[in-house]
Amino acid sequence: MDYIKVQEPILPLLRSMEKVLSKQIGGGVRLITELQRRTPVGKGKKIRAAFFFLLAGMNHLRNDDLPRLAAAIEMLHLSSLIHDDILDNSSRRRGEKTPNHHFGNNLSVLWGDYLFINSLHMLASEQRNPTMDVLLEVSRQMIEGQILEFENNFNYQIRTGTYFAIIRKKTSAMFAGIAGLVAQLKAGSVHPVVDFYDFGRDFGMIFQISDDLLDIFSDRAGKDRFQDLREGKVTLPYILLLRHGQLPLIQNFKIARAQSLLAGCQKFKIKEQSLKIIDRYYRKCAAFLESFPPSPYRESMKHLLDFVRYREY
Ligand code: IPE
Ligand code: IPE
Ligand code: MG
Ligand code: MG
Ligand code: MG
Repeated sequence: MDYIKVQEPILPLLRSMEKVLSKQIGGGVRLITELQRRTPVGKGKKIRAAFFFLLAGMNHLRNDDLPRLAAAIEMLHLSSLIHDDILDNSSRRRGEKTPNHHFGNNLSVLWGDYLFINSLHMLASEQRNPTMDVLLEVSRQMIEGQILEFENNFNYQIRTGTYFAIIRKKTSAMFAGIAGLVAQLKAGSVHPVVDFYDFGRDFGMIFQISDDLLDIFSDRAGKDRFQDLREGKVTLPYILLLRHGQLPLIQNFKIARAQSLLAGCQKFKIKEQSLKIIDRYYRKCAAFLESFPPSPYRESMKHLLDFVRYREY
């Protein structure tokens, strides 16, 4: 599925969002300009903004502030990536070296905080306040999720339920928040807020499980492969391998052993099993989309859903 095609009905909105985002990230301080240069805003997929605009279109939500809200959402996401790369010791993202690689962890923490506060600030001037509440709640959940993940680093006995709790908090909470927001902002929304919220949550689960697959199987993600295992993140594919008694493949992983790991994944059909789990969420998402009348937004949202289910980047 071509991601470019997904963006067709919302191109002007995405362009305006990118303008706001670039403008808001800038600062007068020289070092900030340097940090900004090493944080390639243009190379992200902007999936959260696209998700927001498409759902808003489906829900007939029109509002001049949509690009600004989307920019705040993408900025919150960006700040989480900067913190995440520090936590995960990652040195590559969006096809380039990460801020922590260039500037070290200390300055990068500040840079992540700066973007985080900036994203909240962009919403503080909003008259209506569900937006601020949603973003604060999402932020809290994301941090909780990252801490829960940290607590379980190198825990090869991790329960599947704990894995799902981690990804629900660290990743799905944001999609759920965005979807809930679209319903809250629209007076007389077609479906109840909770249905939107559940859709976003399920979409986010698909997104993170497929991200965890990319870490093992894709060379095109713009990030280093096998980073999860190196840092002791026991994600769904590894939990499935562990169920087949494959602890030796996983413990003390070295990149030189990547081939045996991949062979193990093939033998036990780890990708296929993971996709089956993804499909449980996928079916619920697809049913929600079917409950809307046809529109270019709905069609693109269907494409976006297909894209996140089976992607290479
Ligand atoms: C990466 O998100 C972080 C996860 C929640 C898996 P994206 O894959 O959307 O990152 P960008 O914005 O496109 O770089
Ligand atoms: C990150 O999960 C979740 C966030 C909300 C940032 P990952 O650690 O798997 O994300 P990537 O793979 O580094 O993008
Ligand atoms: Mg991480
Ligand atoms: Mg990471
Ligand atoms: Mg990942």
